[in-house]
Amino acid sequence: MTKRVRKAIFPVGGLGTRFLPATKAMPKEMLPVVDKPLVQYAVEEARAAGIEQFIFVTGRGKQAIEDHFDHSYELHQVLSQREKYDLLALIADIRLPAGSVTYTRQPEALGLGHAVWCARDLVGNEPFAVLLADDLILSDQPCLKQMCEAHASVGGSMVAVMDVLPEHTQRYGIVAPGPIGGDPKLVPVLGLVEKPKPEAAPSTLAVIGRYIIDGAVFAELDRRETGAGGEIQLTDALARLIGRQPFHGYRFAGERFDCGDKVGFLEAQLAFALQRPDLADHVKAFLPRYAAST
Ligand code: UTP
Repeated sequence: MTKRVRKAIFPVGGLGTRFLPATKAMPKEMLPVVDKPLVQYAVEEARAAGIEQFIFVTGRGKQAIEDHFDHSYELHQVLSQREKYDLLALIADIRLPAGSVTYTRQPEALGLGHAVWCARDLVGNEPFAVLLADDLILSDQPCLKQMCEAHASVGGSMVAVMDVLPEHTQRYGIVAPGPIGGDPKLVPVLGLVEKPKPEAAPSTLAVIGRYIIDGAVFAELDRRETGAGGEIQLTDALARLIGRQPFHGYRFAGERFDCGDKVGFLEAQLAFALQRPDLADHVKAFLPRYAAST
């Protein structure tokens, strides 16, 4: 029987250079979309998928993330005195249950594969999820929940996938897909290539930042081999699991925003604001003014 996915890794050790100067002293994962930090969206998605253990792989200058999920005595006291019960409930919701959170450090940002490898002893030999907070997904059903449900029936490893423009394959890990079986959302993966040029890409089906990974990946990451960009790539270690266990791409229902990129981040602000009853009408009112001014 397939083991249930109980643990999730949040790699938050990256430098976020594309968002300088904002990320000079503030973690990229704390950038807000509307009024909520990216990392909180990722944690909420994991909770909705039934994750019980939250493992953050942090680095230098990432203290704000730990503080965000912790109890804030001063804020609690002030809000209580002012009888701001709605805000008290809002901050109480952010806290994770005692004993469910672990922080480990990635001493150097050597790549996503290295970040995941840093959590190896905290995960052990069981399937685990990885969520990249800068990939933000707007969907009716949380993306990781969709994946966990599919994983329960097929097991092995699974990556969230979506179609991208041929000229964008160099930004992603790209899947070599096999023939689709019963469920059109499940794409058998025959191969994975990190950031291929369009002419070398096996398809236009790209891996985005949601993974369910078999514990066997740690033996592959142990090799500490570098790949594209001189980084230890998760994609390369995952590619070595193919053929040894079930390996699927999952075409999730929802829209993904690349919040590690300025354009994607701005688009996410609008898309999420338009979902909010308190903001949607204001956004709709001002947007045409800016669109017309160009
Ligand atoms: P990115 O590829 O977006 O890199 O990482 P980055 O360093 O955060 O940002 P730029 O490219 O310099 O602007 C994707 C995710 O993987 C994590 C990041 O924190 C981000 O959530 N990551 C990346 C690590 O945890 N460690 C690394 O060594 C690299």
